[in-house]
Amino acid sequence: MTRIRIEVDGDQVPGLAGQTIAAVLLADGRAAWRRTRTGRPRGVFCGIGACFDCLVTVNGLRDVRACQRRAADGDKVDLQEDDRD
Ligand code: FES
Repeated sequence: MTRIRIEVDGDQVPGLAGQTIAAVLLADGRAAWRRTRTGRPRGVFCGIGACFDCLVTVNGLRDVRACQRRAADGDKVDLQEDDRD
């Protein structure tokens, strides 16, 4: 397996080629990486792209579903506050 590394809010996080960004975050021990506007934590809920709970910003593009986006070496992932409940 090819090892990759992504940057998450400035932290270098290791992963494996083929993993989604959500899988890389979960393997790094992060269960929640977004907060709703009322402060509720969100991470993976459905895991199939339906709920939009796992949104992150990837390489400057907001609202990317982490469970659907395959991580690429060097990706810059920013956690985001959200206006959704
Ligand atoms: S976990 Fe539901 S869309 Fe990603």
